Order: sequence, then structure tokens, then C-alpha cells
Amino acid sequence: MNPRPTIIDCDPGTDDAIALWLALASPELDVQLVSVVGGNVGLEHTLRNARAVVGLAGRPIRVVAGADRPMLGRFEDAAHVHGADGLAGLVLPDGPPAAPGIAADAIRDLLRAAPPASVTLIALGPATNLGLVFATEPALAGKVAEIVLMTGAMAEGNITPSAEFNAWNDPEALQVVFGCGAKVTLATLDVTNQALCMPAHIASLEAAGGGACLNAAARIWRSVRPSRRSAGRGHEQHDACAVAWAVAPHLFAGREVFAAMDCIPGPGRGRTVIDRWGRAGREANALFLETLDTEGFFDLVIRRLATLP
Ligand code: BDR
Ligand code: CA
Repeated sequence: MNPRPTIIDCDPGTDDAIALWLALASPELDVQLVSVVGGNVGLEHTLRNARAVVGLAGRPIRVVAGADRPMLGRFEDAAHVHGADGLAGLVLPDGPPAAPGIAADAIRDLLRAAPPASVTLIALGPATNLGLVFATEPALAGKVAEIVLMTGAMAEGNITPSAEFNAWNDPEALQVVFGCGAKVTLATLDVTNQALCMPAHIASLEAAGGGACLNAAARIWRSVRPSRRSAGRGHEQHDACAVAWAVAPHLFAGREVFAAMDCIPGPGRGRTVIDRWGRAGREANALFLETLDTEGFFDLVIRRLATLP
């Protein structure tokens, strides 16, 4: 099987780092570009972290800076979850310098040069960079094989009662992506909360005997505070679910839905409205992932990370 040309748009972020290493360790994906957005922490940190994560894996992949704020709203980070630097205090060696230019241009250039329906886009942060691409050159959706988004929640949110952090950060951009016409797959909190990293998973990772990336991942897993949602049992590996879908879809079950954004100021802003039963009478525009084989997921992450330098 030929590896699929892939762009990863991210805001590292502790779980973004794990997701990036999973992608870089996966022979199904040919990661050609890592584009970065402000999100979990400010762009100056997410860019440094993305460069460091890619550098530790020893891969000569372009890392390019993108938007440092949403299209319309006010930027707010999630440093309370990921630490002030975004990697829960882990200090990685500096990575290769960022590639010149800005993310939206780099994504557009790569898509323009690609054959139709060939590029997988995996987005792990606020959708600003992707929104800019498809708002300014909608025809590029034709070059996309699939957009996999870690975003949103059908049930409760994690930044407001209604909204998940990435969706809430730039709902207008996400609405553009939902409407772009490309195949969209949603790894929302409803499925990513099932990727609960518990002490036994951390012990298995540490026992897997890998190199610097695995050791760094284990330190991240040890440093992230258990979530209140899980009653302190563990913390969620949201972003790696999107990558896992792209490389091991048999771990998931889902259904086609119509998804739309609530962009209206107020308590619902940033909510992803997921129409599971076709009540809106609208044509489906997304595959909504509902269930995860949790142990299969952690087995995949651990086995793959153990192959990295
Ligand atoms: C998402 O928000 C960020 O904090 C994580 O990196 C993940 O992408 C989960 O809500
Ligand atoms: Ca993220």
C-alpha cells in the first residue's frame, strides 16, 4: 500500500505531540507538511513544540507557522491543561527551524500540486488554517481525500458546557470546513473521551523500550493531570484518535451525520450540532465516530511509538 500524502495541522499540546509521533511512526501516512496554529498555548509555543516533536523523530518534514488567533473571536489558550509551554513542563531539544511562509499558503501550494482526492488533512487544533484555505480557494477541496478533525462534541463540551475547545476557539473556520464539500470525519469528545490513558497504559508504554520519542511521550503521560471528567482515573488522548482513524479505522465505528456550527454569541457558541437521526432533513456532510476499541487504540499507539528513534 502506498503511504497517503498527509498534512497535519496542530497546536502542540501534550496530546498533539503523541498524535504527531503516532503519525510519523505510521507507514500508512506520508506526512509532507506540519502546519501549526495557536490553540492550547500561543503560537510561539505551539510552533516551537511542533518543531521539537518533529525533530526528535528525526524526520525532515516542513513545519510552518499559521494563524495565531481565530478568524473573528478572541484567542484563548488551554494552558491550564497543557502547561504554560504546552508540553506539561517537558523540555525537548530545539527542532529544525520553521519553513518560511505561512500555513494557509503552504497548504494551498501542496493541494494545488496534488492529484484530485489524494491528500489526507488531519486537524488537531482550532480550524483557522484550514478555514482560511477553503474560504479563499474552495476548489482545493477537490484535492482532498479526507479531512479528519479532532473537534467538537455531540454531548457536553470541555471548555464550556456546550463546546469542545478546538471548535469553540474558531467556530467560523470550522463552519467553512464543514461546508467545503470534502469528505469530513469527526473525532469529537464523544469518541476521544474513550481514549482514556490510565496508569496501566503508561506502564505499558514505559515497558515498550523505545527511544527518545517514546521516553518523552511517557514523561508527558506521567505529567498530565487526570481529568475531572474521568473522576481522576486518567487523561484523554483526544488528538491521537484522529490519527488512529487515518491509520487503523477498524478500531472505530461511526455513522454519517449532518454537522453544523453554532456561531452565535452566547452559551451555545462553539457547539457542534450533530444530527444523528437526520432530523434537520439535511444531506450528511460528515462521518461521526462514535465508538473506539480503547485497548486496541493504546496497543497501536504504544507499538508505533516504540519504532521511533
Ligand atoms: C482538544 O483541545 C486541545 O486541548 C487538545 O489538544 C485537543 O486537540 C481537546 O478538546
Ligand atoms: Ca490539539
